[in-house]
Amino acid sequence: MEVIKVRCPATVANLGAGFDVFGMALKEPYDIIEVKVQEKGIEIDVEGYEVPTKPEENTGGYVALRMLEDFNLEYGVQIRIFKRIKPGSGLGSSAATASGVAYAMNKLFNLRLSMNRLVEYAALGETVSAGVPHADNVAPAIYGGFTVIASREPLKVLRFKPPPMSVVIALPDVEKGSTKLARAVVPKMIPLESMVRNISYASMLAIGMVTGDVSLVKMGMNDCVVEPARAEAGILKGFKLFKRAGLEVGAGVAASGAGPAVVGVVEKEKVEMLYEAFKGVCRSLGLGCMFYKTEPGDGICEIGGG
Ligand code: HSE
Repeated sequence: MEVIKVRCPATVANLGAGFDVFGMALKEPYDIIEVKVQEKGIEIDVEGYEVPTKPEENTGGYVALRMLEDFNLEYGVQIRIFKRIKPGSGLGSSAATASGVAYAMNKLFNLRLSMNRLVEYAALGETVSAGVPHADNVAPAIYGGFTVIASREPLKVLRFKPPPMSVVIALPDVEKGSTKLARAVVPKMIPLESMVRNISYASMLAIGMVTGDVSLVKMGMNDCVVEPARAEAGILKGFKLFKRAGLEVGAGVAASGAGPAVVGVVEKEKVEMLYEAFKGVCRSLGLGCMFYKTEPGDGICEIGGG
């Protein structure tokens, strides 16, 4: 088979206190990626949101380069990206591309790599946009559901099916700047008290996900280290207002990855209330905003194409 076409989900990372550890795949939005063997070189075409097309500057192109090199593959590939996840949104846009290409290359060249090896390759792509190979977006993009990076070296990913719940994403129309920048403002040292509080939050979230207790998931969506630092640096526009509005309708609210997207989780019957609450915040801030009413979703899947 010489063409592989895959659907690559958006993902939310951190979910509160799980910086670089927690992630969750979403049903929508998603990118479509098609990878085709060609004689040599890497060519990238993009439709939809713009992303770099030079292989070494594109998170997927970089993954393809590394895989061709590591497996001594004497071919090239043509990568077509239908980019529907806005780059720089905090919804794992770069991870979707990197993961989609890793998955497709594995199939295309019959490399028989494990899911964890695919996560490792896709994480390499994240260095292009974030400066470090963080795996908390690529792991859920590949595995689906809720994932925990239990260890980075060696990589150990835990995967759980989240409980049925609604997820509302508000994506304010602001420039975040790069993920690299958003990581530069994260404190390197934290008070013991903040560590203790964040362990409580992270524990509640993980236990809620595993036991299917949505109220625990919501209570766990808090962070007293990274989110406040990013909000203070102006990276999470209106974050406190989103948080307050979400809490008022009984939702859990967190920054989605490094923002500017905000993720709210709520019981299915309250989805409209949360959506209206987020819309109200965007109106009061005078900001254009994009919204997704979605839910936890599966990982990358092949959709045919050749
Ligand atoms: N854990 C990463 C961060 C996710 O917060 O920088 C980036 O999407």
